[in-house]
Parts: sequence; structure tokens; C-alpha cells
Amino acid sequence: MSSQDSIEGQQCPLAVGVETSSQSASDGESDCEVITVTIGATVPTGFENTAAEEVQEKIGADATISKDRGRIYFQITTDKLSQVHNLRSVDNLFVVVEEYDNYQFKDSKEETLEDLQKLASKLPWTNALKVWKLNTSLKKKRGPHRRPQGPKGKGRRGRNFRDRGKANKDVVEMDTMETVTAEIEKLQVEPQAPTTGQGGGSPDLENSPLGDQQEVEGQEPGPKALKFRVTCSRAGDKHSFSSNEAARDFGGAVQDFFQWKADMTKFDIEVLLNIHNVEVVIGIALTEESLHRRNITHFGPTTLRSTLCYGMLRLSKPQASDVILDPMCGTGAIPLEGAIEWQQAFYLAGDNNDMAVSRTVNNICHIQKKRLDKSSTPGLPIDTVQWDLCHLPMRTNSVDIIITDMPFGKRMGSRKKNWDLYPPCLREMARVSRPGSGKAVILTQDKKCFQKAISRMGGLWRKHHTVWVNVGGLHAGVFLLKRTAGIFGQTPEDVREPLEEQPGKEKTAEEREKEVK
Ligand SMILES: C[S@@+](CC[C@H](N)C(=O)[O-])C[C@H]1O[C@@H](n2cnc3c(N)ncnc32)[C@H](O)[C@@H]1O
Repeated sequence: MSSQDSIEGQQCPLAVGVETSSQSASDGESDCEVITVTIGATVPTGFENTAAEEVQEKIGADATISKDRGRIYFQITTDKLSQVHNLRSVDNLFVVVEEYDNYQFKDSKEETLEDLQKLASKLPWTNALKVWKLNTSLKKKRGPHRRPQGPKGKGRRGRNFRDRGKANKDVVEMDTMETVTAEIEKLQVEPQAPTTGQGGGSPDLENSPLGDQQEVEGQEPGPKALKFRVTCSRAGDKHSFSSNEAARDFGGAVQDFFQWKADMTKFDIEVLLNIHNVEVVIGIALTEESLHRRNITHFGPTTLRSTLCYGMLRLSKPQASDVILDPMCGTGAIPLEGAIEWQQAFYLAGDNNDMAVSRTVNNICHIQKKRLDKSSTPGLPIDTVQWDLCHLPMRTNSVDIIITDMPFGKRMGSRKKNWDLYPPCLREMARVSRPGSGKAVILTQDKKCFQKAISRMGGLWRKHHTVWVNVGGLHAGVFLLKRTAGIFGQTPEDVREPLEEQPGKEKTAEEREKEVK
């Protein structure tokens, strides 16, 4: 199955044997032909449908969800490429070079690895490389990428990839998946005749935006060799090879084919080799680092991915003028994502920890400043408070949506403490929520404690929907709760615990009613 079926458009400087027509692209991509390609995106596991919905809404494309959870695929014409970067539910983007639904792996490791080597020169690279080039020019030549948290001292020149025993290994946040970035080095740097592939050689990348001319005295400036790395993600236990071996051998063949230079940290191109059981997808990365880091500069011990926050917010369907609360905001990832993406609502972010509150303030200020620098409206509809969730300084029935990420009791708090924490938290959330229309979207890994606490809320919360997600390798649930029409303070379970030292103590609904009478 090929991912690059249709080609229509005008001749682009990079074009290699591509048929042309008169359609041209807009949005600054007008100098290039418009081609249709498949884009792949990694998304938070569990939120694949949310991501597909967003793709349909913002790009008008139908996305398919991979069998390998946490990925979606959709087709675009290249004039829509910049829009792809506006998606908020995706972590990483790549353009598909080729995909195989049922790749026939050989039984022996040697034969399989040999096949992977052969594959490199047979793949239809041309369109994917055009998209990569276009993407790079859209990013306004940001320059070679330094891996944000890469292992230090690895990937240096002077090591022969053929002799490499071990590669750097990153275990991604998935139980069964292994992700390895091959550190492919080659001592021999003399150019070799590329192995014949489509069109009898490697695609023409001389016009690459990164092909800056290197001037050496007395010599004609030549194009600078592109630097690349191969990252292999593998899931499935029936493979005779490791991710490291696949990345190393496939990467070596890519290097031979294109004559690119391998560089683990300062690479121009990242080739992806995704293997999920018998499904194999080869792609080229279009994002340098995961988009989930977009909003946060001051991280905390449990900062949530902005892409996951987006999924949670979307589940709650925010409406104009809604009051949206994150009463355990940590670094503010949820309300900040909301204030950026659904600006017609108002967000309140609170935490009982002063460091968390100051991180949230710093994260908000950073985004405000960025917006000011870009001369877009700096003000975000968000405010921050230090509070104890069990005693919110808020009126009963005043909140439309609560979205929060409760302590799991793993990295923060403890399982034992959750039994004391969850019931009063859910009770206080029920108090401030609007009866009949209020919603809560709650992320927790402590499902047992959560379910028990909900069942003791006197019917004030009704579980509507659950999305099972993966948070840092932990299986967690995102629970969408609906606030029933039940009146708070009428059953023994939901009577609010008194806060003695608080002079302006919140009155119960009954007390208020009496006052009005
Ligand atoms: C899992 S973390 C939230 C992380 C957050 N979503 C982020 O992206 O940074 C849970 C937060 O709940 C806060 N917390 C625990 N008990 C609390 C309470 N009684 N009132 C308010 N906040 C509380 C902790 O200080 C912690 O910041």
C-alpha cells in the first residue's frame, strides 16, 4: 500500500520526475507544486478519536486510527501543511514515506535485517522529502535541531556504525513499545555512487533549504551534506531483532543511499522507522520536539502534556462565558491550554502548594509575554489562586466545568492519603458546580479510590464517559462526570466539613435560602 497516490501541481525546484499541472498552493507555499501526502501524528493514547475529530474540524480530512494506539493518519494536500502545525491534540508529526499493513518479516534476524537494508533504496522518498523541505522553509530555517534532553557525549563522529554494539535507548511512555534512536556513524566520508532507487538514484536535495554552501578557499562551494538520524519505535514480541539493530541496519542503508551524514544530536532530517507487530511505517519527522511542551516553561514534578490537557478540555465542550476551574492546577497546564484555545471562557487555576502556584503564574506570564512580543492580544482569560480544594473560596453552584488532574499517589501524595483526599475534594467540587449542567473531567490513576468516593457523593455526580489513557507509562482514567440536579447539603455524605479558622465561612444553600426569605 502506497501512501503517496496522487501528484498534481507545478514544478517545484526540488521536483524529481514529477508530473505537473496548474494547481498552485497558497499560504506562502505557492512556489511549490501541490501534492497529496499522508501525514502521521502521534497523539496521547486514548485520545485518538479526539485527535481525529480535531483533524476533521481544522483541516477537513478524515483520519484513520492506527492499530498501534497513539497514532493517527490523514491525507493532506501540501497547501494545508501549515495548518497541520496548528493541531493541538498531536504530539509529533511526520510525513509518511511508505506504510506496510502486513510486512513479511523473515524468520531469521540476519535475513530480516538484510531486507530492511534493501528497503532503504526501494522506498518512494521523493514526495516525503519535498514535504520535509517545505516544512523546513515554513519553520523559517530555524537551523539544525539540538535534541532537548538527549544523552550527552553520544553520537560523536569517528565511530563506525557497522561496529556499533549498543545504541542509545529511549523507552517511550508505553508499556510494550521500545524506541531507539540509532547512532549511525561512518568513518569513510568519500562520496559513493548511490545505490539505484526510484529514478535511478537518490532524490535531488541540492536545493535543500539546509544545503547552505560551504565555502572552502580555492574550491567551488558545494552543497553541505545533510545530517540525519534514524529513530526506530518497535512494539510487539514476535520480532527476531531489536529496535537498535533495525535502526542501525536500516539507517546504514539510508546513509549509503543518500550520502547523508549521521548525527544524533544536530540532525536536519529524522527518519522514523515505526514497527508495530507486522505493521511497518517509514516516515520523516516534521516536528523537532513534541508539541506537548508548547505552553510550559516552568515544569513541576507532574506537569501534564498540553496535548492531553487539550483532550480533557475538549471532552468538556467549553462554551462562551463558562467558568472553568482547575482546583489542583500544579503548573497550570490544563487551564493555560484552555485559556489559549477556548478564549471565550474564564479559567481559575488554584493549588495548595505555593511553588505550584508560582510556577503557574510564571507559565502564564511567559505566554503573555510571547503574545505581547508577537503583538497579538496579550491578555489571557485566566487567574491564579492559592487554596485548599476542600474549602474553595467560591460560591455554591457557580462553576460550569471543573477539569483537574488529581494526585495519583505515585509521584505525588500517596495511595493512603488519597482515601482521605478524594471524598472531600469531590464533595467540594459538587458544591461549587452548577446542578443539572455542571461537568467535571477528572484524571486519576487511583481508580478504586475514585470510584468509591463517587459512590459516596449522595448521587451528586453521575459518571458519563471514561477515556483510558497512558500517563508516563501509567494506566489512568479520564472521567467525565455530570453534576446531577441534586441539591448540595441535603444528604449526610455531602455536608460540607466546617473550616473553623475561616471567618468568612461559605454558607450552605439552605442558609442562603433562609437569608433571602
Ligand atoms: C497531579 S498534580 C497536578 C499537575 C498539573 N495538572 C500540572 O500539569 O502540573 C496534583 C496537584 O494537586 C495539588 N493538591 C494536592 N492536594 C490539594 C488540595 N487539597 N488543594 C489544592 N491542591 C492540592 C498538588 O499540590 C499538585 O500540584
